[in-house]
Amino acid sequence: MLKIVVCVSGGGTNLQAILDAIDSGKITNTEVLAVISNNVGAKALERAEAHGIPGILMTPKAYPDRECFNKAFTEKMCELSPDLVVLAGFLVKIPEEMVAKFSNRIVNIHPSLIPSFCGVGYYGLKVHEKVLERGAKVTGATVHFVNEGMDEGPIIAQKAVEVLQDDTPEVLQRRVMEQAEWILLPQAIDDIANNRLVVENGRVKRSSQAL
Ligand code: GAR
Repeated sequence: MLKIVVCVSGGGTNLQAILDAIDSGKITNTEVLAVISNNVGAKALERAEAHGIPGILMTPKAYPDRECFNKAFTEKMCELSPDLVVLAGFLVKIPEEMVAKFSNRIVNIHPSLIPSFCGVGYYGLKVHEKVLERGAKVTGATVHFVNEGMDEGPIIAQKAVEVLQDDTPEVLQRRVMEQAEWILLPQAIDDIANNRLVVENGRVKRSSQAL
């Protein structure tokens, strides 16, 4: 059984997609140990509670500086000891010490086709604003393992989504979620839970041992 901790910051629709996929059997062999939020008002915490999953608040504001937060956050994660950490709309940079302790065991969903529209300053609605500003005709979402860089780890899966002429950032965000994010992230978790992925030379491949 793959034990996961899901980290969230806001609405938690990706968290909901994970919980629904576990309930419906689209994700197998997986248990959510806890949901961690950096934001006290996150609707995601309500979603966790409604599912009987412990919600934990870890906000940088509660610590004197980022170093203290990073230490406490990493210690909390080690205490929970998940097999996989899932960043489902988590808008806090993962401390390097946590990346080192959970090498190739942290996944993130990003709302663009990496390496486009990613890195510092590209998160949430801002990504879709930049896509529209640039006039891109195709966007999408990416699930990737997390390394020390920003949106730079090995790519697990991507899905393209069309940009339409009259899109607003909100309309585009919703289409990317519906057509890509809520599908890709549960699939990636199920693939990991069932040992279908291997990382070789910084690239993710389908395991030849796959069932
Ligand atoms: C999602 O679109 C996710 O891809 C994005 O934040 C949103 C969270 O929505 N994540 C990033 O931008 C990370 N760089 P949700 O809370 O409803 O799942």
